[in-house]
Amino acid sequence: MKPNRTNLSVPGIMEKMHAKAIESKADVIMFDLEDSVPSDQKELARKTIIKTLSNLFGCTRTIAVRINSLDTPYAYKDIIEVVTAAGKIIDAIVLPKVNHEGDIHCISRLLDGIEMDLNLDHTIRIEACIETAKGLERVSQIAKACSRIKSLAFGIADYSASIGAKLTSMSGHGEKEPATYPGHRWHFPVSRMVMAAKANNLLAIDAPFGDFKNLPGLKESAAMAAALGCDGKWVIHPDQIKVVNQAFTPSAEDIGRAKKIIDIFNIQNNPPKSAIAVDGKMIDQATLRLARQLWDQAVYLKLV
Ligand code: COA
Ligand code: MG
Repeated sequence: MKPNRTNLSVPGIMEKMHAKAIESKADVIMFDLEDSVPSDQKELARKTIIKTLSNLFGCTRTIAVRINSLDTPYAYKDIIEVVTAAGKIIDAIVLPKVNHEGDIHCISRLLDGIEMDLNLDHTIRIEACIETAKGLERVSQIAKACSRIKSLAFGIADYSASIGAKLTSMSGHGEKEPATYPGHRWHFPVSRMVMAAKANNLLAIDAPFGDFKNLPGLKESAAMAAALGCDGKWVIHPDQIKVVNQAFTPSAEDIGRAKKIIDIFNIQNNPPKSAIAVDGKMIDQATLRLARQLWDQAVYLKLV
């Protein structure tokens, strides 16, 4: 799978932003039909996205489209119109407010039909947004609903609304959290989602950070997500891409440390079988597993 460190959300109606997004260094460009598009402009957003995507045939960028949730009158048209017109270039459908594995089955069956009709030579994957209490409760079943699912993404503002958490900041997308709650306010839902994702070989993607002018705050938020096991984070502004890409890219120091640990365990004649001390710190088989994971990420991102 291609890298998924940054997922840049671009409002479907903002054609000017589409070009900027395509030129950006975001790993995934997500054209949005849901919350960044007013209800009376869904039709326009579909048309605008189709126009942009039609000009991108042959492009190698990873393209996703966020449709509306299944409890709206828009979702079925989003899928049928946009995927029929531009399925060739769409890598993934992002499904918001997934409450039940049946939601995934419904979208997947529709995609089955469109893919057959278009004779597509690739499978369109699904990113399931976990952003309701119901969705989090069923996250394990959702994660294993079907082989199209590639990732689970945490939706911070909708999840807050769903559980009745107090709005403590302007955007409700992750800013001012440290002042609101001692520790990581969303530690449990993010970790629960990460666990379901990783148990099913899926990627786990963190929510966006709404205070887009606050890059130190973004860096902290992304580092926290990486520490909890997330593989990437949504971004809502091009200025956020570099910081988030960096947070999910192993540094030269990290890679050097991982290599040193792997080399120690690779000693042919006498590899350590138990815990040993290196530079005054304990390392063991679990350390080796962590080091291998980091090394694999570096290989995946072509850093080594
Ligand atoms: N994708 C691509 N380009 C974007 C962008 C995005 N998400 N957000 C901003 N830009 C562009 C602007 O068009 C502008 O381009 P220009 O310099 O060529 O005029 C440039 O980046 C600077 O934008 P700026 O003026 O700082 O931001 P803004 O005030 O116009 O917009 C937001 C701020 C938050 C409204 C805007 O970033 C946005 O709509 N983000 C996405 C929101 C979204 O998708 N929400 C749903 C998912 S949570
Ligand atoms: Mg949401």
